[in-house]
Amino acid sequence: MAHSSNPQSSQPLLHSRRHLLRYLAGGGLGAIALVFARPQPATGQDLEELCSTFPQNSRCLDYLPGVQALDTAGNAIALDAFLPTTTPGIPQPVQGLPSVTYLVINDGPALAPYGLRPVCPHRGCAVLWQADQNRFACPCHGSKFDAEGRVLRGPARKPLPLVTVVERQNQIRLVDRAPSIDPR
Ligand code: FES
Repeated sequence: MAHSSNPQSSQPLLHSRRHLLRYLAGGGLGAIALVFARPQPATGQDLEELCSTFPQNSRCLDYLPGVQALDTAGNAIALDAFLPTTTPGIPQPVQGLPSVTYLVINDGPALAPYGLRPVCPHRGCAVLWQADQNRFACPCHGSKFDAEGRVLRGPARKPLPLVTVVERQNQIRLVDRAPSIDPR
């Protein structure tokens, strides 16, 4: 009587099953490896990190990091209309971050890629811009800072803290973190 219990006849079947299992296992591992090897799309957080730190990166040309700068009346600032109204060396206060930011205006006039947080590094008092003296002054213990936040007089020993400023799509974007290199 023909029966499948014949060990000779089941050999090729077992062999092909093992082959199939090995093939599937290999394919599965390969697929997993491909998933991990393929570059993953950047999340919004990744782009914010990248474009805040390296705004000129080619992946950031359409990305708007941080928040838009507003004038003191709360209106969005258009860069091309704003710059001609500024004077090199005179910082311009803008809103957008939790505290006021002073934009640093270079020759041109052109926008520096950083702005000043008017917070005294000595004990944290708010410093005031004194236009007639062209400097910031701290009302608490008398520290003075120049128009780029460098210390002119103590007791403060550190310059005013920086935020990152990015020009993009005719906007001024404020990023609430210091640039990777302090240019002062
Ligand atoms: S807090 Fe500004 S000088 Fe002390």
